[in-house]
Amino acid sequence: MQGTTSGSGRPTGDKPAIRPAAGRLGVLTPGLGAVATTFMAGVESIRKGHSKPIGSLTQMATIRLGKRTEQRSPLIKDFVPLAGLDDIVFGAWDPIPDDALTAARKAGVLEEKDLLPVADFLSAIKPMPAVFDNKYVTRINGTNVKTGKTKRDLAEQLRQDIRDFKTKHKLDRVVIVWCASTEIFIKPGPQHATIEQFEKAMERNDDAIAPSMLYAYAAIMEGVPYANGAPNLAVDTPALIQLANDKGVPIMGKDFKTGQTWMKTVIAPGLKARMLGLAGWYSTNILGNRDGEVLDDPASFKTKEESKLSVLHDILQPETYPDLYKDFAHVVRINYYPPRGDNKEGWDNIDIVGWMGYPMQIKINFLCRDSILAAPIVLDLALFMDFAHRAGMKGIQEWLSFYFKSPMAAAGLHPEHDLFIQQTKLKNTLRHYMGEDQITHLGVEYYAS
Ligand SMILES: NC(=O)c1ccc[n+]([C@@H]2O[C@H](COP(=O)([O-])OP(=O)(O)OC[C@H]3O[C@@H](n4cnc5c(N)ncnc54)[C@H](O)[C@@H]3O)[C@@H](O)[C@H]2O)c1
Repeated sequence: MQGTTSGSGRPTGDKPAIRPAAGRLGVLTPGLGAVATTFMAGVESIRKGHSKPIGSLTQMATIRLGKRTEQRSPLIKDFVPLAGLDDIVFGAWDPIPDDALTAARKAGVLEEKDLLPVADFLSAIKPMPAVFDNKYVTRINGTNVKTGKTKRDLAEQLRQDIRDFKTKHKLDRVVIVWCASTEIFIKPGPQHATIEQFEKAMERNDDAIAPSMLYAYAAIMEGVPYANGAPNLAVDTPALIQLANDKGVPIMGKDFKTGQTWMKTVIAPGLKARMLGLAGWYSTNILGNRDGEVLDDPASFKTKEESKLSVLHDILQPETYPDLYKDFAHVVRINYYPPRGDNKEGWDNIDIVGWMGYPMQIKINFLCRDSILAAPIVLDLALFMDFAHRAGMKGIQEWLSFYFKSPMAAAGLHPEHDLFIQQTKLKNTLRHYMGEDQITHLGVEYYAS
């Protein structure tokens, strides 16, 4: 976080005033699959009064302000100037030409009774042709795809799409949340080191430049905040991070934290808080949606695996606590199993170690709905990154790490994974920008008589 606070916690000095959330906010998603359609259907259902925004901090959470005795705990949305749900306009890109209603039906997340009241709304959302290449997502064959001589041409077409979308819907602002398939694993290379090298690589159609990077580049060039819901690199390269800083654009990622990793970032801090050891953590999943099918490809799974594996190590700090966490085994598996559709099931076996080295076990059986958990995250990210942009924040938004399995962090820094530290950081950032004291829960009371 840049800037300092006065004694009262009010931002001082160089911070620009927060621009109001006037006008309409466009939310564009590369990908119009299970997550994106569940998000859009849900927002419309909430706008019509048919549903409640369960799972969304921006809509349901309160934030304590000042001392406990002051009894001030407004809803976040009443405290922070966020765009209202009625002001959101949706758009998407997808290589599959299905409109949002057809895509939602195929995804099979929402029941017909919940789709029918929003059916007309969803069928009007038709995906723009995508920048898509089978090389990066091997299990999908799309027909709704842009053509161009170079990757740079394709990025320029995406920029034009953003401008056209903004004009067509008379939007004040736009944000982008990547809800498209997980691409194959790509290691950052010289092509991603500087923006000059990145642009040259686009021009010579270098394989190291994946479609997700073109969306990210287009977004930043258009001054549009970009959140990456998948584990692929996309915006997490030195070139694009620098570009975002130069252009004053908030960026964030990677990979929505919805399932087993969310549980890990709740339970691992608990084990560490009690100084209990860990011998091993075995996680396996069955998943039958299209995401599961894409992740069945080892190259896409490798991207996901990298994103899932780092969490425990970063939370448990084996270097600091070798007696407790040195050499624990950590295995993550995802198996594509079509009968389950979007209703994934995950099993965790956690081998922990207690007093005098006695082994104990914890088992978690996680029966959840992937997109039901992801949809409110998309909404919160869209609203918070729009707020961040209006508040003058730019570059990596570490305060939104709460929402990601593999949070982006400044070069040389370890990301923070502990869900409760992430939550505190999120709320303190809001307090800080709104001129309230940060709350650390560190006040000491005097108990002696
Ligand atoms: N649901 C969750 O809990 C969760 C959690 C973390 C991350 N994610 C990630 O979110 C993403 C979306 O998940 P989903 O369940 O909606 O998957 P999905 O397969 O239902 O939808 C993805 C859509 O992206 C489209 N797509 C692929 N490449 C594209 C491109 N280059 N441009 C535009 N569209 C493209 C596909 O055609 C598909 O329609 C995946 O990457 C997934 O790994 C999901």
